[in-house]
Amino acid sequence: MSVYILGIESSCDDTSAAVIEGTTILSNVIASQKVHAEYGGVVPELASRAHQQNIIPVIDTALKRAKINKNQLSAIAFTNGPGLLGSLLVGSSFAKAMAYSLNIPLIQVDHLQAHVLANFLQKPGEPIAGPSCPFLCLTVSGGHTLLLQVNDYFDMQRIGGTIDDAAGEAFDKAAKILGLPYPGGPVIDRYAHEGDPNRFHFAISHLPGLDYSFSGLKTSFLYFVRDNLKENPNFIEENLPDLCASIQYAIIRSLTDKLKKALRDTPCQDLVLAGGVSANSGLREAAANVARRYHKNLFLPTLDLTTDNAAMIAVCGYFKFRQGDFVGVDVVPYSSARGK
Ligand code: KG4
Ligand code: ZN
Repeated sequence: MSVYILGIESSCDDTSAAVIEGTTILSNVIASQKVHAEYGGVVPELASRAHQQNIIPVIDTALKRAKINKNQLSAIAFTNGPGLLGSLLVGSSFAKAMAYSLNIPLIQVDHLQAHVLANFLQKPGEPIAGPSCPFLCLTVSGGHTLLLQVNDYFDMQRIGGTIDDAAGEAFDKAAKILGLPYPGGPVIDRYAHEGDPNRFHFAISHLPGLDYSFSGLKTSFLYFVRDNLKENPNFIEENLPDLCASIQYAIIRSLTDKLKKALRDTPCQDLVLAGGVSANSGLREAAANVARRYHKNLFLPTLDLTTDNAAMIAVCGYFKFRQGDFVGVDVVPYSSARGK
């Protein structure tokens, strides 16, 4: 019998709902909140209000696109954390009420695990595929930068991670310094295509082990731009593509340096990328080169599955459904990562 899972994601500034059948995506609807762009970052209060406006139409559209009646659903999976508490409350309250009224199981999902498991999704007609455990996963998003050894769907061992800013934050902050809109990653990626990555050099941190640090890079970029603006007020406009290409190059080098180090002594055959920053064209290319050099198979989520979406929540829910891992309506959202 088919298993249909409705996934609900509302941890940050995207309200999303998806319906999957097994691991196949039937619909994946995302309402991205535009209201934050003018503030240069996500404003939590505005985010929860926008989630409240979006949640019903988004879920309704997801069911319609999937051509699934709500009574056919096997379970409802929702993001329970980490994320903004006000935003999480909107999705989790809705999921609880809907599961309760339909009398079907409720499944809590960890947003970071879901980013990783997005690599097990496929579109209708595509063969079932995905990495083989154990695999090495670089999870890079707006809030997290993690190197994980994934031994099983829910056995993810942290082998490295950022000690300060996340890689996505480094992109977003660099964009802000350049006067570019939020989220900055995709904009920097676009300008970087036309720029020279070797024009400006920014020192990257060399922490021991597999940990990352991006706050020093951000500060040196800030001072560099500020000092040059003193000499030439048009410095940014005249050098935008080169500035974007150079800062992107520094962030990617920082990420791939540790990736190579991890690959030198890992038992894993498969290398996987996950999270919003894995949409970055330069990082995807660099990861492909690293995988080739270390004779690993590379798995990249399709672009629509890199950033926040509910299909990844639903697939995580599907794997939990098979284990009977359900929660009651008294489960409480959490804001920060749970030691992953
Ligand atoms: O995974 P995600 O949608 O949300 C979190 O869980 O944080 O990641 C959002 C982050 C933002 O920092 C955004 O700037 C970054 O992913 N991002 C990118 C690109 N697309 C999104 N960074 C670099 N290049 C991109 N193409
Ligand atoms: Zn995310």
